[in-house]
Amino acid sequence: MSNNHQLSLLQPYPFEKLRAALADQVHGGDLAHIALSIGEPKHTPPSLVIDALSNPAALAKQLAIYPATRGSDALRDAISHWLEQRFNIAVDPENQILPVNGTREALFSFAQAQLSGDSSSLVGMPNPFYQIYEGAALLAGAQPYYIPNTVANNYQADFDSISAATWDAMELLYICSPGNPTGHLISDTQMRNLIELAHRHDFIIAADECYAEIYFSDQPRPSSLLASSNAMGNKDFQRCVVFHSLSKRSNLPGLRSGFVAGDANIIEQFLRYRTYHGCALGMHQQRASTLAWQDEAHVQKNRALYEQKFRTVTKILAPYYDIRQPAGGFYHWLPTPTDDIEFCQTLFTTQHITVMPGTFLGRQDQGLNPGRGHARIAWVAPLEECIEAAERLVDFAKS
Ligand SMILES: Cc1ncc(COP(=O)(O)O)c(C=O)c1O
Repeated sequence: MSNNHQLSLLQPYPFEKLRAALADQVHGGDLAHIALSIGEPKHTPPSLVIDALSNPAALAKQLAIYPATRGSDALRDAISHWLEQRFNIAVDPENQILPVNGTREALFSFAQAQLSGDSSSLVGMPNPFYQIYEGAALLAGAQPYYIPNTVANNYQADFDSISAATWDAMELLYICSPGNPTGHLISDTQMRNLIELAHRHDFIIAADECYAEIYFSDQPRPSSLLASSNAMGNKDFQRCVVFHSLSKRSNLPGLRSGFVAGDANIIEQFLRYRTYHGCALGMHQQRASTLAWQDEAHVQKNRALYEQKFRTVTKILAPYYDIRQPAGGFYHWLPTPTDDIEFCQTLFTTQHITVMPGTFLGRQDQGLNPGRGHARIAWVAPLEECIEAAERLVDFAKS
């Protein structure tokens, strides 16, 4: 029995809800199961990382050390260099970068480190969303404030509709670009507006940019909150932090490696928290991560594979579904012709495909769950399996 009342506020994770929704559903045919519900990258991890992790002499040394929470100079230098190459910004590896055990852990612990604990404080977040933002706010004693990303607004958050009093109560705003699940980008203009609001109303912007490297060659490259901050003259990134990951960029979800970068004062506070939390990356993880951030060839190959998959499945699906090309990330956010949970259940029983109902990724707020009426399809499986799934989705639409 827990004495932590906030734990009882947490919702089941979307995958638990999906398991429950499918518990009594049985596929009646003999089709092999295809899982498109979870955004776990399936492309091959880069061999330079595998080689580094399989070097016994290096491992013996790395495993014999308590690693520093702030990470090695080599890793922070590699990250700083990557940020400079990718977003044309100068980020000081000494005090503006912190390695983390994947962005999930960091997005969660960031709220614990930064929020005041005042129960009237708000944490803004998109709706639908990556559920960690909500759990982070609740366990830190704050109130989630859901900002709808509706189809009517082309899946953009309507930040202009938020009142000055709400901004005043906000201590932290999570944004996600490219967005999971919608795949939309937050524009530079919107980023700049948000930074101005953050200064005016004194809150922090935490930008989840873990899908920034999955985009399409005929579309603009996703930018960064830090690039917008830099361009508007906020060159020390006051009130801005970004979260990046090797999980999607480098197909290394099992390495648990990412970083947080931005405002040095915020990073300092987060480092203090993390020192006590005890979540330093092992030296073997740090070495492997350094190599991954230094290499672009595997990232280009990975991106090309996603692009090929999206082009192929979109061509198959477009005549039958209201399919929209995302601006980034590896999800289709598909409007469903019927109730989304029922759609996913029937798709499972007839075609043996699992996708995620949008209802489970959103929150009912002010009479509306903006996730409802959508399904999230994660195109992470190998190309042949994705083609097979797309063809079954067509059969499903026809029937
Ligand atoms: C939007 C978003 N943020 C963060 C994460 C966490 O990624 P990781 O902890 O592997 O860096 C995910 C993973 O699916 C995600 O979809």
